[in-house]
Amino acid sequence: MLSAAPGVWSVVHGTPEPLTPVALREVPIASAALSAMPEAALPAWAAELKIETSDRGVLIRLPLADGESLYGLGLQLKSHEQRGKKRVLRVNSDPVADTGDSHAPVPFIASTAGWGLLVDTARYASFHTGGQRRACDLAEPAPGVIGTTTDELYRARAGGRRELVIEVPVARGVTVYLFGGPTLKDAVRRYNLFSGGGCLPPLWGLGVWYRAFGKASRSEVEGIAAGLRADRIPCDVLGLEPGWQTKAYPCSYRWAEERFPDHRGFLQGIRGKGFRINCWEHAYVHPSAPVYGEILPHAGPSAVFDGLVPDFLMPAARAAYARHHGVLAAEGIDGFKLDECDHSDFISWPWCFPEHDRFPSGLDGERMHSLFGMMYLRTVHQVYAGRGVRSYHEVRNAGALASPYPFVLYSDLYDHRDFVRGVVGSGFSGLLWSPEVRHATGVEDLVRRIQAVAMSAQALVNAWYIPQPPWANVDRAANNRGESMPERERATALVRDAFRLRMSLLPVIYAAFARYRADGTPPFRALAMDFPQDAEARTVDDQWLIGDDLLFAPVFAGQASRSVYLPSGDWFDLASGRRIAGGERIDEDTPVERMLLYVRSGAILPLAEPVEHVRADTVFRLTVRVYGADPRPCDLHEDDGESDAHERGASNRVRLAWDGSGGRVERSGRWPGRRYEIAEWQRIGG
Ligand code: GAL
Repeated sequence: MLSAAPGVWSVVHGTPEPLTPVALREVPIASAALSAMPEAALPAWAAELKIETSDRGVLIRLPLADGESLYGLGLQLKSHEQRGKKRVLRVNSDPVADTGDSHAPVPFIASTAGWGLLVDTARYASFHTGGQRRACDLAEPAPGVIGTTTDELYRARAGGRRELVIEVPVARGVTVYLFGGPTLKDAVRRYNLFSGGGCLPPLWGLGVWYRAFGKASRSEVEGIAAGLRADRIPCDVLGLEPGWQTKAYPCSYRWAEERFPDHRGFLQGIRGKGFRINCWEHAYVHPSAPVYGEILPHAGPSAVFDGLVPDFLMPAARAAYARHHGVLAAEGIDGFKLDECDHSDFISWPWCFPEHDRFPSGLDGERMHSLFGMMYLRTVHQVYAGRGVRSYHEVRNAGALASPYPFVLYSDLYDHRDFVRGVVGSGFSGLLWSPEVRHATGVEDLVRRIQAVAMSAQALVNAWYIPQPPWANVDRAANNRGESMPERERATALVRDAFRLRMSLLPVIYAAFARYRADGTPPFRALAMDFPQDAEARTVDDQWLIGDDLLFAPVFAGQASRSVYLPSGDWFDLASGRRIAGGERIDEDTPVERMLLYVRSGAILPLAEPVEHVRADTVFRLTVRVYGADPRPCDLHEDDGESDAHERGASNRVRLAWDGSGGRVERSGRWPGRRYEIAEWQRIGG
């Protein structure tokens, strides 16, 4: 057992494969932040960790304690707790079953007992998470119950000593990293800091996003932009879908002048109205792309969508791709949506390359699938990092060590509960996820989805197949109700309210990201992360924490009321100020305009007067609410919001504190500007 960083240990077994997530890392370990954490002990079971090689590959075994819950393994939309399961970590663009297949599988798992474990492999590893008992351990055979329900039949198998068994196929060796606690959250933080720390998106990236209809022309996109402003729907980022390019499947990465005449003028005009531009693409290169010739010698053997598959491990391919994207960025594209990089495992053509392909770097198709998204996103990330600006992008595949990269995952799937589960679970593996909104079955479904996305890492409406904003379309969606304009107006007003609340929370969300960057704490997280000893909190897969003090419980279409679990301690309903004693479930009425948000007692919560979009010189006017007894100080992060100067100390900590009778603001740091001013202090339940 070697020390890899403070509170992180590694075990090397046999001869590990050369191309693994850690071997290919580009961001250094955030060692200073790891050193600042409380000391961690090696997990108690470390002495019992067994790793062996067989003709199948490598097998890793470790004991699990009774009552220990496991989380992680990447974006798992179909399940929350990962104990007692079999998971095969394959990249899959349509993970429709609870098997481990995922847009972003990550071989990292963390426990409520306060440890984490990363298997450094790009193979499709299998995790058997404590479901099995060894025959030789069956001291007491299961009682001979003859069941007549599946519950009775299988109940007898609960209990006993369990193992976590991980199989890495093909490999002749592997490195395993262990992350100490003492808590589950600390283990996750250590994993994120080992990855290089969390990302800090630009402030504008945390505003509202609207992706326009894929076929929209310049004037249609300008019309949508004007409509958003006219309807006073906050919006910071406009997304262009495939139609901005001359060829999209595969991609030319060239502006389609017939749809976007004078694209430079378009970019300038739309940015002048306070929008940032994010452009859709995927990595499969069309012969007419300016980089085709340079990528060709460094591409995989199979075409995807009839395009070249760049091997981003080859420096020449990566440099050519980045150089051309640098030209696009210089013209005014603020970021990209990296689509289709999560090849389906079940369809061979034209969606993906096969596992048996061999790439110029030496990777086979299996490992390339696991690494493709990470290598692709790094290539695009470097374009902006190299220009000294921050960006916030989308991507459909990511993997291990993703936390330093400002990329948000999304999916073509659309089950609302699965989307909510994605927000709750993604924080266990260094990932960000957007429960994006597309079409809806009516006003209620639309508004419920908008309310949830407004409280997530990326407030995204992805109208790529809908010519008009979905709130302008509800009449059609709900046309059997015989209602027309009023429905549309009601929908618009409700969407506006939810997004204005998002904008009010921008300072809090930005502060949560600043903390993510500094100490690895996920900005959006499951209740299990903060309350690992609370048996009920561990199971909650439909509520999440935003920062330290806000709890959000999304409502789903059709729910006239919902049960909310508030962990022990006092909480306050954000909207009414009502005090609620935690430690049990409560039933809340849920009229469609109501968003269930709760503030932890002792919190200081700054709420900004909502702006419609963030500008370089935006100063947020804050109403600072002080909740309950013994208020704790609240730290905001202040900087220019868009450059990397904060990495060189150009930022401030703005500490808001309550001294019993009045509020205090303390600024420390080296950024000369001001991002926040206090309009008012309000005392609630003190
Ligand atoms: C899908 C993607 C959608 C949209 C569409 C455009 O693959 O998930 O969000 O961008 O492509 O073709």
